[in-house]
Amino acid sequence: MTAVIIDGKKIAEGIRNEVGIAVKERIAAGLSVPGLATVLVGNDPASQIYVRNKMKACDRLGIYSVSYTLPEDTDFETLKELINQLNVAPEIHGILVQLPLPPQIDEYSVLSMINPQKDVDGFHPINAGMLARKESEPWFIPCTSAGILRLIHSVQPDITGMEAVVIGRSSIVGMPTAQLLCRNNATVTICHTKTVNLAAVCRRADLLVVAAGHSKLVKGDWVKPGAIVIDVGINRVNTPDSPKGYILTGDTEFDEIVNIAKAITPVPGGVGPMTIAMLMQNTLLAASRYSA
Ligand code: GUN
Repeated sequence: MTAVIIDGKKIAEGIRNEVGIAVKERIAAGLSVPGLATVLVGNDPASQIYVRNKMKACDRLGIYSVSYTLPEDTDFETLKELINQLNVAPEIHGILVQLPLPPQIDEYSVLSMINPQKDVDGFHPINAGMLARKESEPWFIPCTSAGILRLIHSVQPDITGMEAVVIGRSSIVGMPTAQLLCRNNATVTICHTKTVNLAAVCRRADLLVVAAGHSKLVKGDWVKPGAIVIDVGINRVNTPDSPKGYILTGDTEFDEIVNIAKAITPVPGGVGPMTIAMLMQNTLLAASRYSA
């Protein structure tokens, strides 16, 4: 069996196009321009690239965006003041604080300060709690998790009763993805660094989501024939003879799994582009809930 390679780039482009059309329609109807504020503390090069790409995506879709870059030694009170201003700014519908934050700033306290109705990342404890609670609908679903579900739905529209295994329990990806799959009626197992016999657990999976942050962790013989494999990893592996001096790898042995799985996402071009597309969708959603 040769797996379908799920084209995240193309699916993300389709979502961005839809958002762009809806933004134009909103503005033509005299409604406000959706607005996103990003906040970056420090100068982590990867975070700088992520934030720049988010702003670029806004620009292309007609979404207003403003970016705040604060120095590495920013204190909690300064960040709190900025978030409080953004929480009440009428032109800002979505607020995103890029993670990770420098060690002197408590991440949970910062995420808890964001107005939950502007929390386009879906990381505020109210939104995280509503995702975990079957009876409630969160205001926003975290972008990477929402993107992963869209990719799965492109090859498997109904995941009811499927055995899902998620490797990784981070608050940004692993945990919300497991909860989202459970809400969609999959039977979910969460694996992490303390899991005993990870390979055997993975072999049970009809749906395998890998967010381990470990290059090529999942081998071909860890995958059940016919499974759907979603690789969330982006690892920079030093490769002196490559043009950039490094290559990007996922958390799975793609070349082995492509002959075993029913479908797999590539790295790059799988989950990565979906995160920004879903952020654009969440920003539009935030604006559309706002009356003016
Ligand atoms: N850092 C890595 N991924 C994310 C994300 O999805 N949102 C934010 N705010 N920070 C991140």
